[in-house]
Amino acid sequence: MTPAPGGRTSTVDVLAVFAALRRRAPLLLVAVALGGSLGLGNALLATPMYTSTATVLFSLDRGQSVNELVQGANYAQTLVQTYTEVATAPVVLGPVVSDLDLGTSPQLLARSIDVKAPLNTTLMDIEVTRTSAPESARIANAVAAELARAVASLAPEDTEAGITVRTIAPAVTPVNTSSPNKPLSLATGLAVGGALGIALVLLLEVVLATTTDRAAVGRATSSPVLALVPRSRAASEDRDPAVVEAHRTLRTNLSFLHRRGSSHVVVLTSAASGDGKTTTAIALARSSASTGQRVLLVDADLRRPVLADRLGLLASAGLSTVLTGRVTLDDVLQPGPGGIDVLASGVCPPNPSELLASTEMRELLELARSRYDCVVLDCAPVLPVTDAAVLARQTDGAVVVVDARRTQVRALAEVDLRLRSAGAAVAGVIINRTARTRSSYYGQRRSAWWSGRRTGLGRGGRPGTGLRSGAPVAPVAPVAPNASVASNASDA
Ligand SMILES: Nc1ncnc2c1ncn2[C@@H]1O[C@H](COP(=O)(O)OP(=O)(O)OP(=O)(O)O)[C@@H](O)[C@H]1O
Ligand SMILES: [Mg+2]
Repeated sequence: MTPAPGGRTSTVDVLAVFAALRRRAPLLLVAVALGGSLGLGNALLATPMYTSTATVLFSLDRGQSVNELVQGANYAQTLVQTYTEVATAPVVLGPVVSDLDLGTSPQLLARSIDVKAPLNTTLMDIEVTRTSAPESARIANAVAAELARAVASLAPEDTEAGITVRTIAPAVTPVNTSSPNKPLSLATGLAVGGALGIALVLLLEVVLATTTDRAAVGRATSSPVLALVPRSRAASEDRDPAVVEAHRTLRTNLSFLHRRGSSHVVVLTSAASGDGKTTTAIALARSSASTGQRVLLVDADLRRPVLADRLGLLASAGLSTVLTGRVTLDDVLQPGPGGIDVLASGVCPPNPSELLASTEMRELLELARSRYDCVVLDCAPVLPVTDAAVLARQTDGAVVVVDARRTQVRALAEVDLRLRSAGAAVAGVIINRTARTRSSYYGQRRSAWWSGRRTGLGRGGRPGTGLRSGAPVAPVAPVAPNASVASNASDA
């Protein structure tokens, strides 16, 4: 997960991980099912193996007193450890191979034999694993017998206390296979599939995470979420009550961030094209004007201006015309909807960034500030061009619009970084086109965690879009530092 700026509690991270796993549950299920199938398939295809065990006892032939017997037992225990090696040596397995006519070498046969000496005993288990059940028992018994002979021949001739090896539990032909273990293979496959699935989900979360909700935005920027604007169902967003309500919330929350009585100048920008800057700028301007404020809406997107077209105004004379000194502000102001004044873009200049960074622009903003309560500048996106960054540092701050399904957390973090590096303040973030729930109109909080709605890749969106989610739709107040702010529901 992208680390939270300023550090978040681990609880948030854990919840975010669970939310991510829940959102991508289908992917996780596929990974688990695939792992389980591979595990089971592997077990079904594997050759069945049978294991037989012969147990032998090492003992001393002599010893009268208790003391001698104890010493003898200790001596035998020490020898058992050594003879575990002897049991798979050619001196033992050579005769076994030839007696049973196994058609293999002692070295190869040794690979199917496992010799164990249980601790603090003089016992030895000779386990033989073969593809044939009777053969495994025959070999285990033959190794036990041959080991007894080898021990007798290897023992020092002049010792009084001779070591004897007796088979106390001969190997019997096993009925069940020792491997493959189908339940174990299935469980291992499921576990490995699940672990890989979780890793994949977390990787996708880091790579593709979109700004679906406050938590995701919080991972990219420390700025508050000013409003969550639902995806509009109406032909025009300003006819959708839930959208209008969200824009009112935006206005109210923005006003909380500014000193009462002072005018404020904000830049609307985003990471990429089409995130909803112009739509939000118009809505914010109209909403502010409806409270009696004097509002100027400026098309500062000097590369792809659309504001005048959207409002049915003239685009040819406006900001660029004023900045190049050919006309004054009053000459090109146009009345817009809801009593706002609109400054269109004017003809697209070849050097938008220079114009927006010019002294003329600064003077124009000062003039606008002196005449209006609220100045809203619709600007180009941050990532492709520097216009928004150079303009925002001359204003009270930038408001960044993110598309809930498309703008990635990484992109928002980059926007935040670029704006701040340019010396601009980031007033807040608007999450646009959030998924709708039935509770949208009532302002109830529904987090991605609680909503449990599915997410998918770019459905209904533009190419290469990110995630959908049951992100909170009827929004709540942003977490503005030192500011009390309204939710969509409570804002009026
Ligand atoms: N909340 C919303 N619900 C549904 N449609 C929306 C919403 N917000 C914006 N749109 C639509 O998305 C499209 C792009 O919006 P807009 O022009 O405001 O984006 P932009 O960021 O200004 O784009 P550009 O970078 O090209 O200037 C428009 O058709 C607009 O009507
Ligand atoms: Mg635009």
